[in-house]
Amino acid sequence: MPKVTFMPMNTTFEVKKDQSILDIALDHHVPLQHACGGFCACTTCHIIVKSGASALSPMEEEEQERLERMGILDDYSRLSCQSKVHGDVVVEVVNIDDH
Ligand code: FES
Repeated sequence: MPKVTFMPMNTTFEVKKDQSILDIALDHHVPLQHACGGFCACTTCHIIVKSGASALSPMEEEEQERLERMGILDDYSRLSCQSKVHGDVVVEVVNIDDH
């Protein structure tokens, strides 16, 4: 089973393949913001991929455009709701939900 580690919490979970990082975070009470509910319509679920980028589903056009529009399109940024896990990854939560 793939393992996902969330930083800066430094918590690791074994997960089912093809789950999105956002769903994994919600299942495990990781405080990751998700204003649009996972529909690629905001960027609050932004994560930085620290390792294992190739173990995530490839970025699709909609996600790319959304990141581009917000000026956060780089080699490490993804939207967690659009990133499905295929192998081990380490990600950093950018917008911690403190509500
Ligand atoms: S939750 Fe809004 S884009 Fe991911």
